Amino acid sequence: MSMPTSLALLNTFGLNQYCDSLVEVTSKEELINTCLMLYQQQQSMFILGGGSNVVFTDDFEGTVVKVSTKGIVVNEDAGFYYLTVQAGESWHQLVEYCLAKDIYGLENMALIPGTVGAAPIQNIGAYGVEFNRFCHNIEFLQLDTGNLVNFDNQQCHFGYRESIFKQVLKNLVVITEVTLKLAKHWVPEINYGPLQHFNLLDVTAQQIFDCVCMVRRSKLPDPKIFGNVGSFFKNPVVSTQEYDLLKSRYCELVGYPQADNHYKLAAGWLIENAGLKGFNIGGAAVHQDQALVLVNLGHATGNHVCQLAKYIIQIVFEKFAVILQPEPRVIGSVGEIEIK
Ligand code: FAD
Ligand code: EPU
Repeated sequence: MSMPTSLALLNTFGLNQYCDSLVEVTSKEELINTCLMLYQQQQSMFILGGGSNVVFTDDFEGTVVKVSTKGIVVNEDAGFYYLTVQAGESWHQLVEYCLAKDIYGLENMALIPGTVGAAPIQNIGAYGVEFNRFCHNIEFLQLDTGNLVNFDNQQCHFGYRESIFKQVLKNLVVITEVTLKLAKHWVPEINYGPLQHFNLLDVTAQQIFDCVCMVRRSKLPDPKIFGNVGSFFKNPVVSTQEYDLLKSRYCELVGYPQADNHYKLAAGWLIENAGLKGFNIGGAAVHQDQALVLVNLGHATGNHVCQLAKYIIQIVFEKFAVILQPEPRVIGSVGEIEIK
């Protein structure tokens, strides 16, 4: 018999909602069989990795499938390593595993919480590198046909915090394993602010890893102390005309030039300069040190978080005419909902 189970320890926001039942799967076969059975019985299900990008607003009336599948297989040819990794492996532990084996490239993405299976979904990224740079193949279960399907990098339609898994395949597939392709000839990526002091000729992957870990620990709140999901909004991409107009009014505006005449604005700057640092609704607050992060002061509910997010979207729009888009997935009583 299923038992209502608290999700509080299974999401980094620490939101205390329940689900009707929780199934933890530890092998690919079990993951596939469990998901297909629930799908065929038309039961509500939610696939959960590390819970570091979700906001639960209600008790979930269905089964939460917690992906804890493990396994890493390394193959190589003359130029590359190919790592086939089960969806439930920890992303950060994978980064450490690679470093210990002298397989380099992932070090800029150290300390991103969550599972390997979730990494392609929003194409995780940090410190100048995104997941798609190393993505070779994604294997997933297509729920309606029951087939295991493989997509190469191009087929995943990766973008900034985007992929096909958040678009047309949203909630229709379960990612089972990920194959990364890492070049044996390592080229360090040190263009991002805090890494720029390194020298391309002698920097090591370990030094980049250590620096990224240090900067992240100093900037981002530890979910064990203040529950959070990292950045709550994507950095908005606007046209050069919009950027120029804003820059003429706010000379300290922070923006980064992008391809094809666009700028990516620092959403943290917009929120801070809308006067919202530290602002709270119920137990949810804009983090004092990093305005792009919303934190749980200890007694937040998912609804506090969503009300705060809505308020931020409204105020930032009124002040800067820029629409912020939430990054985490918001889960209501039967599935995903939108913050409107
Ligand atoms: P979950 O939160 O468990 O799930 C997220 C979504 O993916 C849900 O919709 C879920 O249903 C779906 N999902 C999960 N696994 C599967 C699967 N196997 N198949 C199908 N669907 C699945 N993100 C960045 O990009 N860069 C950062 O620098 C970064 N920093 C962060 C810092 C902190 C402190 C925190 C808390 C979060 C940060 N994040 C960052 C966000 C988060 O770490 C990523 O989005 C991560 O990939 C989420 O992984 P997860 O396993 O926790 O996913
Ligand atoms: N800023 C402010 N005030 C703030 C916060 C930021 O003015 O309160 C300005 C600063 O000028 C800073 C700039 O915003 O220079 C950018 O801030 P930061 O370097 O901290 O990065 P971010 O834009 O807030 C993004 C990602 C992070 C990723 C870091 C490092 C998004 C939505 N967020 O954050 O990813 O770790 O860069 O690459 O793209 C996540 O997605 O959850 C996440 C944490």
